[in-house]
Amino acid sequence: MTIVFGLLAAIQPLLLSDIPVPLRPSIAVNERDFDALRNDVRASTARRLGASWREHLAYFVLQSKTFTDLEPIEPAASAVTFQQSGAIPANVNARIAAFLSVVKVESQDSRIQLFQNLFGESDPLPKIEQGYMESMRFLFEKEVEALNQPSRTRGAFIDGLYQRRGLSIDTSIEASYAVSRALETIRRISPNTKIRRVLVLGPGLDFAPRSGLFERYPPQSYQPFAVADALVEFKLADKSKMEIRCMDINPAVLSFLNDFPRGKHPTLYLPPMKGEADLEHYWLQLGKHVGSRRGNVWSLGRTARRVTGELADILTDRIPGGQDLIVATNVLVYLNKKELLLALSNVFQALEPNGWFIHNDTREEIESVTRLFHFEPEAAKAFLLRTRQDTNQFDTYVIHKKR
Ligand SMILES: C[S@@+](CC[C@H](N)C(=O)[O-])C[C@H]1O[C@@H](n2cnc3c(N)ncnc32)[C@H](O)[C@@H]1O
Repeated sequence: MTIVFGLLAAIQPLLLSDIPVPLRPSIAVNERDFDALRNDVRASTARRLGASWREHLAYFVLQSKTFTDLEPIEPAASAVTFQQSGAIPANVNARIAAFLSVVKVESQDSRIQLFQNLFGESDPLPKIEQGYMESMRFLFEKEVEALNQPSRTRGAFIDGLYQRRGLSIDTSIEASYAVSRALETIRRISPNTKIRRVLVLGPGLDFAPRSGLFERYPPQSYQPFAVADALVEFKLADKSKMEIRCMDINPAVLSFLNDFPRGKHPTLYLPPMKGEADLEHYWLQLGKHVGSRRGNVWSLGRTARRVTGELADILTDRIPGGQDLIVATNVLVYLNKKELLLALSNVFQALEPNGWFIHNDTREEIESVTRLFHFEPEAAKAFLLRTRQDTNQFDTYVIHKKR
């Protein structure tokens, strides 16, 4: 996998004049002030990107079956052991040693190759240990300490953790299911909608998630293609005319999106899906409207070429205008109040009149802020994905329309 660094020339910086007037006093007093804010945000994004790689490295070392026969370690269980002992447990050190012995030699595994690229000549051990400790602290706070918070402040406690942590690259088919349900709703409430220009912000890559690492295939990004499929299914777009542009800060995502459509037979391999009947039905049908499906193999054909990717930060780089639809799932959750204002302003300025924005963040702040410039949600819905170990897993969609 080649990694592309640097922004494409077409991307311009976001300016204070791009921010809706009612939001400006909470963001900056003048362009100079805004410039300083942009620099701070860029520095923070770079730091959080580094933290994200360390976290994925830790999850890979704990779970992967490609480099060792040692038992995989469930990250949440390891977080509890680590918290109790204050030291890296012996079973983790054994896996780290196994990983170190393979990461220094040539590998056919694309995930290991990506880590090798990232390490260059540097010693991987400090990064692995730091990544392990950071991700275990996060998991412990989110899954154990959060339960000790009073229920009325628990949500804000977890929101705060996400706003400080690394910018995870993870993606899953479930997120595209939420977008598909949102598009079905748009079709119902506005049957004449026609969509041609689409932007997917932060499409992600299924690299090394916190649980359920699926390594049978190299890392893939599904969301832009799944959005294309749903747009055609709900007759919102013409498959030979739609343009799906993606923006992400992570070069590995862009590398996939730029290489994949140029392949001779662009093919995605869908990981297995278990959950509510509607979710499983979605998984079974996915890919039947653009390209073709056989089992878990989705051949994209020409539609793959309708997707392009750019390296850009949606908090500091201006999203190109003229968009009919913007999608951002599991992206806003990482943003604090000021960053949220930047992202929402950026989305708003980039949409055409009557353009749509779909995300899955139900924070009250989003509704109160977007109301100030008449961009409040048109529709929102929470739905069950599955019940696992007596816990219900939900996702949500939220739809805004630019009036
Ligand atoms: C958790 S993943 C979500 C992936 C996919 N949207 C999904 O829901 O499955 C978040 C993605 O957003 C990207 N991202 C985070 N902050 C960003 C920013 N400020 N600008 C652009 N991309 C960003 C990350 O690199 C990552 O690819």
